[in-house]
Amino acid sequence: MSVNKEIKRVTTHILQKMKQDGERISMLTAYDFSMAKIFDDAGMDILLVGDSASNVMAGHETTLPITLDQMIYHAVSVVRAIKRSFVVVDLPFGSYQGNSKEALSSAIRIMKETGAHGIKIEGGEEIIESVKRIISSGIPVMGHLGLTPQSIYKFGTYAVRATEEVEAQKLLSDAKLLQEAGCFAIVLEKIPALLAKQVAEELRIPIIGIGAGKYVDGQVLVMHDMLGINKEFKPRFLRRYLNLYDTILGATKHYIKDVKSRDFPNDSEQY
Ligand code: KIV
Repeated sequence: MSVNKEIKRVTTHILQKMKQDGERISMLTAYDFSMAKIFDDAGMDILLVGDSASNVMAGHETTLPITLDQMIYHAVSVVRAIKRSFVVVDLPFGSYQGNSKEALSSAIRIMKETGAHGIKIEGGEEIIESVKRIISSGIPVMGHLGLTPQSIYKFGTYAVRATEEVEAQKLLSDAKLLQEAGCFAIVLEKIPALLAKQVAEELRIPIIGIGAGKYVDGQVLVMHDMLGINKEFKPRFLRRYLNLYDTILGATKHYIKDVKSRDFPNDSEQY
């Protein structure tokens, strides 16, 4: 399918059109300038400044510790690099759960201080007032249902969600609520492929999956997983496109060896 590089700037309207035309939407996380620049040059449709930065950038066990200020720092670096991609920033844990007024002021800080194009927020019915309030201020909102990592201590496990009928029905009804509230897209994380298919078929807005199978309108991965920088994380849904851990390890060992042996720098590498 086309990488659609002729699109000057991806917008929510273009994402909606991609769904209508059956063109799959590509989305990847980014947290810094240099990687975001490569992903944008490659033609990525959406860059997500995910709160997974808490895990892959800061080394925390969960996404809970990352702060709004830290998310803003990552987002500013990403936005500085992009020309074409649509940039979405996660509202971190604790920045919106309190009340819809707080949610709006967190979303406004992200939009004002980073120049990003939209925000993502985890949850359904329980956060719908916040979603509506943010959207009514003109900020594009992406929903996130299924395995929502900010609720990991409630779930107790990172296993597949919504395998039981009751949870599946709630997910479907939450997705419809988010659409009616005006979300421009929804991420579905780690749910059965046939449930994700039903959501994608019943909703007008794009559904982006991570571990949600092949029938949805687009796919998202965490960049460290896609590039093989993490060795330990190997869920079934992950396809690794590189084994960067081993490549970087090898290069680093080579550099150490060259320094120790005085091979680097040589005559042509000095002034
Ligand atoms: O923070 C993140 O990286 C995410 C993706 C897993 C969708 O929310």
